[in-house]
Amino acid sequence: MLTPQINLFKKSNPLIVKVLSNLRLTPERGKGKRPFAEGDSAIHRITLSVDHNVYPYLIGQSAGVIPPGEDPEKLAKGSADPAYTIRLYSIASPSYSFGKTKDTIEFIIKRDDVYDESGNLLYKGVCSNYICDLKPGDSVTMTGPAGKKFLLPQTDYQGDIFFCATGTGIAPYLGMIEELLEHKLIQYQGNVYVIYGAPYSDEIVLRDYFESIAKKHPNFKFITAVSREEKNSFDGGKQYITHRLRELAPQVKSAVEGNGKFYICGGPKGMEKGVIEEMIAASKSTLSYEEFKKDLETKDQLFVETY
Ligand SMILES: Cc1cc2nc3c(=O)[nH]c(=O)nc-3n(C[C@H](O)[C@H](O)[C@H](O)COP(=O)(O)OP(=O)(O)OC[C@H]3O[C@@H](n4cnc5c(N)ncnc54)[C@H](O)[C@@H]3O)c2cc1C
Ligand SMILES: NC(=O)c1ccc[n+]([C@@H]2O[C@H](COP(=O)([O-])OP(=O)(O)OC[C@H]3O[C@@H](n4cnc5c(N)ncnc54)[C@H](OP(=O)(O)O)[C@@H]3O)[C@@H](O)[C@H]2O)c1
Repeated sequence: MLTPQINLFKKSNPLIVKVLSNLRLTPERGKGKRPFAEGDSAIHRITLSVDHNVYPYLIGQSAGVIPPGEDPEKLAKGSADPAYTIRLYSIASPSYSFGKTKDTIEFIIKRDDVYDESGNLLYKGVCSNYICDLKPGDSVTMTGPAGKKFLLPQTDYQGDIFFCATGTGIAPYLGMIEELLEHKLIQYQGNVYVIYGAPYSDEIVLRDYFESIAKKHPNFKFITAVSREEKNSFDGGKQYITHRLRELAPQVKSAVEGNGKFYICGGPKGMEKGVIEEMIAASKSTLSYEEFKKDLETKDQLFVETY
């Protein structure tokens, strides 16, 4: 049984790592499905050189990144420590890392920018833009690992697993699927569903990877919900991951009742509510929302990381 280690590196003693690669996964602005007036959706895959012996993590944990420079808001308030606050990012690579080497760690990060209704850039996220601008050889100041709950089963397990994601919430599932189905760190034969929502079909990142896993593993299903291109089969409105779960109501019911596990990750914050309500409806539970959520969390069947 592995115990997640946390806060090995802090703001006062951070880990300095080097960038190996930085790849944009979504089309350049105006060249994909997203209309220009909706701004840019820039999702990057960043690989860093990190010795796993120095930075031991379990997939599902996050890492902290400290953007360089000083926060103007903190400076204006006369803060004694005007450095930027740590931002957390889900670790996307398996704890073994790809290729079973032990020297890299990966993130899937979106520039968190805000546009007005005409597509003019209003605000830029500090840390996400800093990371998405990094070049191979650049240094990054990291803290962590962080988080001890959003983890895979650590011992052999037979139930079904639903991995629900919106946007960059897909990040931890890349490493989780790799560990469960490819590296086989535990004995596992249940069904695995990745249910992944994004606004446009070309913003479903890592599709090739998940489709290749689906070809190799009959127990793995990769299901997408493309909100601004598809209509759901229930009321003809936007296709959300919640509608995909409703289509799978019998499987959801048997997983709720049969020790299955549900992971929910991504934004917007509070997105988990709709997913959990689908679980309640599918299982015909008479518990209230809060009772149901607490019950499943206590039984290690529900894991939520929304931001
Ligand atoms: C556990 C956890 C895991 C996470 N994992 C990931 C992940 O894997 N990938 C990922 O991309 N993100 C992830 N996040 C989100 C990440 O931590 C950051 O919150 C995100 O990158 C935004 O940080 P930022 O510094 O870029 O934006 P900030 O500078 O903190 O700004 C936040 C938002 O405010 C907007 N803004 C800036 N100025 C103003 C203003 N004056 N008025 C109004 N709005 C303004 C920005 O455009 C941005 O949208 C995770 C969060 C948590 C808690
Ligand atoms: N790094 C980040 O991306 C980041 C960081 C911090 C916070 N956030 C927050 O998360 C939000 C989305 O982030 P994103 O840009 O990563 O994702 P995204 O690429 O916009 O994808 C999110 C998907 O989820 C859909 N959706 C919206 N509300 C939903 C709900 N209640 N239930 C199920 N699906 C829902 C969206 O549909 P529609 O949009 O078409 O309705 C979209 O298809 C942002 O608006 C921001 O508030 C994101």
